[in-house]
Amino acid sequence: MRLAEKDILDIESLSVERIKNILDTAEGLKEISTRPIKKVPTLRGKTIIHFFYEPSTRTRTSFEIAAKRLSADTVSISASTSSIAKGETLVDTAKNLEAMNPDAIVIRHRAAGAPHMLARLVRASVINAGDGMHAHPSQALLDMMTVREKKGRLAGLKIAIIGDITHSRVARSNIVGFVKMGAEVILAGPPTMIPMGVETLGARVGYHVQEAIKDADVIMVLRIQKERQQALVFPSEREYAQCYGLTEEKLAGVKEDVLIMHPGPINRGVEIAPEVAEGPYSVILEQVTNGVAIRMALFYLLLGGAR
Ligand code: CP
Repeated sequence: MRLAEKDILDIESLSVERIKNILDTAEGLKEISTRPIKKVPTLRGKTIIHFFYEPSTRTRTSFEIAAKRLSADTVSISASTSSIAKGETLVDTAKNLEAMNPDAIVIRHRAAGAPHMLARLVRASVINAGDGMHAHPSQALLDMMTVREKKGRLAGLKIAIIGDITHSRVARSNIVGFVKMGAEVILAGPPTMIPMGVETLGARVGYHVQEAIKDADVIMVLRIQKERQQALVFPSEREYAQCYGLTEEKLAGVKEDVLIMHPGPINRGVEIAPEVAEGPYSVILEQVTNGVAIRMALFYLLLGGAR
């Protein structure tokens, strides 16, 4: 079955049924990555362009691996090695990419809304791989897949998201996604890193880490997004680590089957202690594994059959 939607731009645009459909498809496709020959011919003859205006390790690599495992032809462009460095606009770049007739364009851009604009300009399917502080839908989908795989459900779970919520597209997409799927989301972090009005997305604001993680089924820790901060919003990393960093000490008394997640990249010793990132509750690398399956599912559902 192919998705009715042309693009994957944010979680808001996906219904509960569509999210379940994507998670189910990813679960089915995950096994391909464990085979000795990790490739199926499903997307033979399809062309996918990966267009990254911002640095990325996990998202870019897993989109590229996902496309290759489905036998699509892939091309990668980055801002520094494309004609953007010579002053070409996103609109002109989009028109030129469209002229080469790709089937899908995966885009990461520092400006919120850039993938939405691209989607209006091209016939190809557009997948948002992260736009500014706005959305990172494939990250939220892989996070939901990881939690559902471990807990067997999403509805009724308590998800604590800790850290720099204001500057995090991952937080925004996860709040919308988990709330949509019936989970309770509680946020904690320095008040300067919690955006005003975030409750309208359906999350509760707790501020204190201990309060937020008490009884949580999932603790999601976020990096401080220094590259998006306009001004210093906390006194020092040492102080941040003391007050908001997830340490073994702060984990005393949490649920014994709690999951600890982080979208990466992690700053060891700041938002998460190394022994917690690598400890028994951590599913951080399983999130990365599921990232390939989710991105395979998105390509498969967008490009695989007759719309
Ligand atoms: N989670 C995430 O977006 O990581 P990258 O920036 O490495 O892609």
